[in-house]
Amino acid sequence: MVTGSGMKILLFGGSGQLGYSLKMQAQDLNFELVAPVSSEVDISSLEQVLFLTKQLKPDLVVNCAAHTAIDKAEVQQEVCWRINHRGAANVAQAVSLVGGRMIHISTEQVFPGTGTTPLREGDPTGPLNVYGQSKLAGEQDVLQILADRALIVRTSALHGQRGVNFVSTMLKLFADKDEVRVVNDQKVSPTWAGWLAEVILDLGRTGTSGVVHACCEGVTSWYDFACAIRDCSSLASSAPIKPVSSAEFGRPARRPSFSAFDCARLTSLLGRRPISWQEGLKRHLTEVGALKAAGAGLKGKEL
Ligand SMILES: NC(=O)c1ccc[n+]([C@@H]2O[C@H](COP(=O)([O-])OP(=O)(O)OC[C@H]3O[C@@H](n4cnc5c(N)ncnc54)[C@H](OP(=O)(O)O)[C@@H]3O)[C@@H](O)[C@H]2O)c1
Repeated sequence: MVTGSGMKILLFGGSGQLGYSLKMQAQDLNFELVAPVSSEVDISSLEQVLFLTKQLKPDLVVNCAAHTAIDKAEVQQEVCWRINHRGAANVAQAVSLVGGRMIHISTEQVFPGTGTTPLREGDPTGPLNVYGQSKLAGEQDVLQILADRALIVRTSALHGQRGVNFVSTMLKLFADKDEVRVVNDQKVSPTWAGWLAEVILDLGRTGTSGVVHACCEGVTSWYDFACAIRDCSSLASSAPIKPVSSAEFGRPARRPSFSAFDCARLTSLLGRRPISWQEGLKRHLTEVGALKAAGAGLKGKEL
């Protein structure tokens, strides 16, 4: 873990789940951080991004801002591309003109996810949905504009105390529904935003470039993740969880069947392995005051 020691960070997307965790960690570690909300700086406007970047001259710009609603993106294609592609390119353009480095957050959705082994940074991409396509185009432009002054951090299945995510949705459904249906044929590595925020700050100090995969360790299905949330949460009811296939669930956007990451590059850069997804879940539930009393086990099935 590093401390701020004079590093100035400009953060886009600071009100989102990852951005909020990043703001909290940066504060604790005495980084100088400025995080405009989207009504102050819309990243799809180069003029607005450049104006603030010129004013601040940050050492590091972190872009957590994105259109993240995967299903809505199928029908809101224009706005999704404007934020995830144009917005990312605008931030890179501003950094290229003003100086400094950029960390851009991307996603497992850039992969088709048809394999069964953890995905490496150089594996062939091939998004199945509009969100993934727009994020991939954003990655490509950021790297083209900034070359070795940019780092793309791909992550997966984020959950944090802010915003709507799988954990907060499950806690709500457990309280409201008699039965909860969860997809059991997509394998993921659930990643706690608090852990990732710490990793991003550490990577910011290393000056690393290229692409790095960063997710919590281990692979599980959404169904088994839901069972683990129910088993560990003090808020959850005993609502039965019914496993269903992606086809039965019928969401508008297709998703990868297997999207866990190989984090060997991250481990070697930081000199430590990611925490497990079970530990990430425990810390999230602790953060929101919803962890079952000591002794409660995490029974989520590791695949
Ligand atoms: N959520 C996941 O499961 C997941 C998985 C893998 C990767 N990622 C990536 O991780 C990053 C963070 O995701 P997240 O889940 O923390 O996102 P989030 O909670 O949906 O937050 C998105 C953030 O982007 C901001 N934003 C949206 N449009 C903007 C615009 N035009 N200009 C400036 N800011 C804008 C939002 O601000 P307002 O609230 O003011 O609109 C919000 O702060 C994204 O790059 C995402 O692609 C997410």
